[in-house]
Amino acid sequence: MDIDILQKQIDVILSSNYSIEQKLQKLCNYLQKEVSHYDWVGFYFKNGNKNELKLAQYTGEETEHTIIPFGKGICGQVAVSNEPFIVQDVSKQSNYISCGWKVKSEIVLPIFVHKKNIGQIDIDSHKENAFSAKDTAILGYLCKKLSKII
Ligand code: SME
Repeated sequence: MDIDILQKQIDVILSSNYSIEQKLQKLCNYLQKEVSHYDWVGFYFKNGNKNELKLAQYTGEETEHTIIPFGKGICGQVAVSNEPFIVQDVSKQSNYISCGWKVKSEIVLPIFVHKKNIGQIDIDSHKENAFSAKDTAILGYLCKKLSKII
């Protein structure tokens, strides 16, 4: 996982002429293909005025969890805490919504626009203990850059 290469490609995608939806889809596709421990990459956003998240673009296996109430699961907790959340072993997390038996660890980072938490990037890995400070750094970079164009 080369942070410089990832940053450059994120910049290329975000500064392209595609629509925001297309950019989000391209980011999902790129990250899932490029980073071996990223098995599912997706974006959830606040669903209008409701206190729930709605699945937007993603790459990976289809999930039935297209709507997640605030507070529920790892994603719902990040919607409330406004903090990045790494779970290195999902079997030890009681407030967790399973998206399949293969998933062993998960990382979620919030996306802020004008200091408001408007959504998040969510990544599942089939490896336990998959995530490190490197993931937080590159995904934090992505979320900051994204917040400027959303
Ligand atoms: N595992 C998440 C639900 C979303 S899936 O990972 C796609 C959670 O606990 O919030």
